[in-house]
Amino acid sequence: MSVIGQPLARIDGRLKVTGGAKFTAEFPIPGLVHAFVVQSTISCGRITAIDSADAERTAGVLAVLTPNNAPKLPSPQQRLSLLQDDKIHYNAQPVAVVVAASLEQAQYAASLIRIQYQSEPPHLDFKAGFPRSYPGSHVGEPGDLSFGDVEAGLREAAIHVDRVYTTPIQHHCPMEPHATIAQWDGDRLTVHDSSQYVYARKGSLAEIFRIPEGNVRVIALFVGGGFGCKGEIWSHVVLAAMAARQVNRPVKLVLDRQQMFGPVGARPMTHQHVTLGATREGKLTAIRHEVHSNTSFLEDYLESAAFPSRSMYACANVSTISRLVQLNLGTPTYMRAPGVATGTYALEVAMDELAYELQLDPLQLRLLNYADLDPQTKHPFTEKHLRECYQQGADKFGWSRRNHQPRSMRDGSLLIGWGMATETYPANRQPASALVRVKPDGRVLVASATHEIGNGTYTVLAQVAADALGFSPDLIDVEIGDTVLPESPISAGSMTVASVTPAVQAAAMEVRRKWTPEAKLPIEAVVKVSPDRNLKKSFAPHSFGAVFAEVSVNEPIGMVRVRRVVAVYDVGRLINERTAKSQFISGIVWGISLALHEDTHVDSRNGRIVNANLAEYHIPVNMDIGAIDVSAVDIPDMKLDPLGARGIGEIGITGTGAAIANAIFHATGKRIRELPITPDKLLP
Ligand code: MOS
Repeated sequence: MSVIGQPLARIDGRLKVTGGAKFTAEFPIPGLVHAFVVQSTISCGRITAIDSADAERTAGVLAVLTPNNAPKLPSPQQRLSLLQDDKIHYNAQPVAVVVAASLEQAQYAASLIRIQYQSEPPHLDFKAGFPRSYPGSHVGEPGDLSFGDVEAGLREAAIHVDRVYTTPIQHHCPMEPHATIAQWDGDRLTVHDSSQYVYARKGSLAEIFRIPEGNVRVIALFVGGGFGCKGEIWSHVVLAAMAARQVNRPVKLVLDRQQMFGPVGARPMTHQHVTLGATREGKLTAIRHEVHSNTSFLEDYLESAAFPSRSMYACANVSTISRLVQLNLGTPTYMRAPGVATGTYALEVAMDELAYELQLDPLQLRLLNYADLDPQTKHPFTEKHLRECYQQGADKFGWSRRNHQPRSMRDGSLLIGWGMATETYPANRQPASALVRVKPDGRVLVASATHEIGNGTYTVLAQVAADALGFSPDLIDVEIGDTVLPESPISAGSMTVASVTPAVQAAAMEVRRKWTPEAKLPIEAVVKVSPDRNLKKSFAPHSFGAVFAEVSVNEPIGMVRVRRVVAVYDVGRLINERTAKSQFISGIVWGISLALHEDTHVDSRNGRIVNANLAEYHIPVNMDIGAIDVSAVDIPDMKLDPLGARGIGEIGITGTGAAIANAIFHATGKRIRELPITPDKLLP
């Protein structure tokens, strides 16, 4: 029996639970000193004076870097805050770095630095910025895309839904905050960095300091959650390297929890105007999805929330529009299912509203508009088994027992609501390379510069190599997260498995070919595998799923509980049933959080994030999470990659917010179109 698909326990699980897994800040490097970042208290303007004399005189302090004395970088990235000028673009922008023998000494000295600013009126009002908004793009995809004739489709429609949905700014809260240790040896730089993309980090650092790429090594053996915020390089990584060079010592820089809110990305807020047109029978004739999201004055980052409307339903007339609004906030970034989490919330609530306009079961409405071909390109999907997901999910959930009428279901004094939504995420894949070496002792090394961000990479790579070699997974050692290893892409966009496992498989097959009776161990192969560039010319690669949620609402106090969620996924072949389910469940937990909890509050006067802590920035705890039942149809997608596996890291958050919002409407008859759905919005 193949080890592929088996629910193997994480091969790094023991290390993790015993504290043996070393996260970035935990490397005991001799001579290490500590850096602490000082941040701006205004959001727009410039620094007029910095007094760091007291800080510099404080015990243990080795250096205070400010825009007045920081080394000029040969090639700074303008999007970063690297102490190269006196301008302030957002509150909490790094404006100084203190280096000291201990963290406490650095923090204390930082508190003694006095900075004067000349403040200008900041742009912080999102809606007031709409007149100056402009088009954006997302990872090279245009933000504006239309097909058919949406105006004609709307004219032709008998039924319309025309609504605005909003989602707030959200901040990533990985258990492990951003952390960097930087160490110079002449003009060679070694960086431990909590990163989802060690190769890109290497390239950026080489460019910024103008040293050969081969002089930079970046290491991230374990990442304690990334969720997108560790995809791009942020200012502190460069500042740590700058400080290390300045004091000629290895420097550790760890952001504290508060510092995670502002200078290292966020999910931007969205304002989504969705217009649906349908025939009286429920066939969609038009989808118009216009999204405004905020970006910074330093860089464009688009929340691609309109994109799901291009591929979700069979509709001939679709218009998707994306507009950016610059605000004096830190640049937003990817956050789990960027664009899709927020976009499916709006689209799938609008579909629920349409179902009520039509007096049609929400699942029936989805089936009526089932897309057998990609609506935009008219290409077939590589594989699509969403119908099975709807069917299996509905059966498991008991959807047929639902009374369509809002406020029709109760449990004692609690209102009960059942809602559902479609889930989707693009199936991404990038070139990746891997080394496989069978050693004389009979053990196998699998190596690739991919990442363990909690997703189970160590384990699935071992499974794929074991399968290809016909070995037991116990004999496989996996090394990842280091730029001395063969290059792999960013661990984001749900593409680690579909990108890296084909390289591991190909390298293992190459080893088998070399392994003749005369061959001596070690035998090794390094193979790079690239996806078929022409695939998207004939096929649409997408994952889908169906999610069903039951909520109870205690109406007098507006309290919502998500009692149970059932979701069924079509994500190709599962490499490891256990780690896959863990990914689905965690995505759903975040979907619950999107629906009910997370909400970054910005002070409209100075751009300060007022709930920059885990007490007031609400994320779910175990008590917030009910029963979650996840499964997959588990049908390989052999057109996407040789393993037939698509990514699974992000799809779970998609649709879930809508399923819960729809369940709350079903329970209460109240349609809340502003996330999160907090108790105040449900009070009678
Ligand atoms: Mo994910 S937001 O693509 O790291």
